[in-house]
Amino acid sequence: MAFLTAEKLVKEYKRRGKVFRAVDDIDLQIGSGEFVMIEGESGSGKTTLLNLLTGLTDPTSGSVSIEGKDLKDLDDKGISGIRNEKIKYIPQGESLLSSLTVKENILFPFVIGGAARPSDERLLEVAEKLGISDLLDEYPSDLSGGEMRRATIARAVINRPSLIIADEPTGSLDSVNTSKVMDIFKTIAEEGTAVIVVTHQKETLRYASRVLSMEKGKLREVS
Ligand SMILES: Nc1ncnc2c1ncn2[C@@H]1O[C@H](COP(=O)(O)OP(=O)(O)O)[C@@H](O)[C@H]1O
Ligand SMILES: [Mg+2]
Repeated sequence: MAFLTAEKLVKEYKRRGKVFRAVDDIDLQIGSGEFVMIEGESGSGKTTLLNLLTGLTDPTSGSVSIEGKDLKDLDDKGISGIRNEKIKYIPQGESLLSSLTVKENILFPFVIGGAARPSDERLLEVAEKLGISDLLDEYPSDLSGGEMRRATIARAVINRPSLIIADEPTGSLDSVNTSKVMDIFKTIAEEGTAVIVVTHQKETLRYASRVLSMEKGKLREVS
């Protein structure tokens, strides 16, 4: 069974009184350990698709299941349970808490979520791979945009969730830091996590085990 299945997924929005499909009849299956990249131009529906896959947005029609459970059948508590434990969503933009250090930010989900706190060894391993080990005691306001981004990614990968979904995670990064981020996604995919990364940067596609392309709400398999 696929870890994540989307069937006939549709999301309609209205613009100037006219209905259009931001996501248009998408079927998708993603298994553990797959590293899927979805490329597509701005406005093609990538973020809308990710919001549907994580249950942040309800589809107009169609369904999303995680481990065979339809998200429709889960209440808010069930969905947040899945989100805390199994799925890490890295949205576009910054989401660090300004009053916490980098280290506290990375460990924060384990303080509030009740899941086992990762070891200091694992923290250091992830921080080193992402080039932020010297920044663990700093506050977000003292970091560059790219450093904040890498800290956000550290927080998502540290407990090896079942699925990581990232929306343009390397948009603000130079090529050296882009490869650090892509390498860590590749490693955790090899360790069994399913990874879905959305991008408009074609040069990052080579890291993926599977590439999909989105155009005007339609998704097509590229390789
Ligand atoms: N909440 C919304 N209400 C109306 N239209 C939206 C909403 N969110 C996105 N859209 C529109 O849906 C289309 C796809 O948007 P989006 O999924 O953000 O694309 P991408 O992430 O590929 O840039 C765009 O035309 C966008 O303007
Ligand atoms: Mg987007």
